[in-house]
Amino acid sequence: MTTHPLVDRFQVLGQAMADALGTTGSDASPRFSRIAAEQLECFLPKLRGFSLEDILSAALTTKAEQLDVESHFGDPPITWFMGERFCIESYVWNDNSTNVHDHAFAGAWTTLVGQSLHRQYRFEADEKITPDFELGRLFLQNGERLVPGMVRQITPSDQFIHDLYHLDRPSITLIIRTCRLDHPLRGQRHYIGHEQHALALKTFDRPPMEILQRRLLKASLQDSEATFLHLFQALLEQEDFEVITRLAAKTGFLLSHKQLGDCLRLLENRWPLQGHYVSEALLHQRQLATMINLRHRRTDTQDRLLLGLLRCPSTREDLLEQVRTLAETEDPAAWIFQRFEQWAEEGELLQLTPTQREALRGILEGQPARNDEILDRFTLQNEPLLQVLGTP
Ligand SMILES: [Fe+2]
Repeated sequence: MTTHPLVDRFQVLGQAMADALGTTGSDASPRFSRIAAEQLECFLPKLRGFSLEDILSAALTTKAEQLDVESHFGDPPITWFMGERFCIESYVWNDNSTNVHDHAFAGAWTTLVGQSLHRQYRFEADEKITPDFELGRLFLQNGERLVPGMVRQITPSDQFIHDLYHLDRPSITLIIRTCRLDHPLRGQRHYIGHEQHALALKTFDRPPMEILQRRLLKASLQDSEATFLHLFQALLEQEDFEVITRLAAKTGFLLSHKQLGDCLRLLENRWPLQGHYVSEALLHQRQLATMINLRHRRTDTQDRLLLGLLRCPSTREDLLEQVRTLAETEDPAAWIFQRFEQWAEEGELLQLTPTQREALRGILEGQPARNDEILDRFTLQNEPLLQVLGTP
């Protein structure tokens, strides 16, 4: 099979990166990320206009050693260039998205195809349980819409915490990143929760026994709710707070509301103060998982943008402001209402009676509730999709 021209282009990019990097400097320093960003910017004109088909066909002809082909980060992840200190990878995104996370590597990435909602966060720790597990609070710092041609840098610490929510299906990102760092750093962490209660938790590279425990819990879900709860209870008696939290975080979003509630009650009984952080964070995680699943049913970019934005803001004003900026509209309330109306008309995601429709418009426009609207407003604000509208 002849090599696809795109493969050659990535080889040239890899060689240029190796030359620019030289043999000195720490890969964990900002220098690595800056050079990676410069190289991507330089190569952007040669990386435009590719489709998913181009990328997939080209990948068939790559000879590069694959960094982690089993990874779920990207569907699939493709390694195009494997150097001594770094690699070049692209990730295909359809309905998958990233969790909120930081990095154990440095680098820079760009969007090749499609577009994504990119948000950065700040974590404030309240209590360090272990080096891999902290309790604290998670704050949204900013959001932007990434389109082809934009390059962003990654620094390997909790100073850069972010998530990507892909708006187009497919979206494809390209990254130059370190494969290994030359000094010990704690591993990548996931962040779960919100401004009052959040967890920072290392979830990668777990010991085989913990992976087995997680898989046993998942398998028990196929049996009955009681089996799952018995297994969870048995684990609760033998494992520490960190392991239990990680197991609950990895399985919680698969549970029914009742099952999750039962698990969290057990966990809070055992560790009352700290367990409350876990409960709040995992209930939030479950709500986000519901929103991500809803996105599978919409392919329109604007619909997916609204679903992405509904996941995170904590107030109605915050939502309107983000829609104003990211959807580039002068009238965010009307923009949102139009989408809700369309979903309701198509019987997708949302059901609205005529009076609920009017109540929804009133909420979005910040109108005080009329007496005859109070019940409808209460019902709307208890819809998981519309919960954010409950806080002005
Ligand atoms: Fe990332």
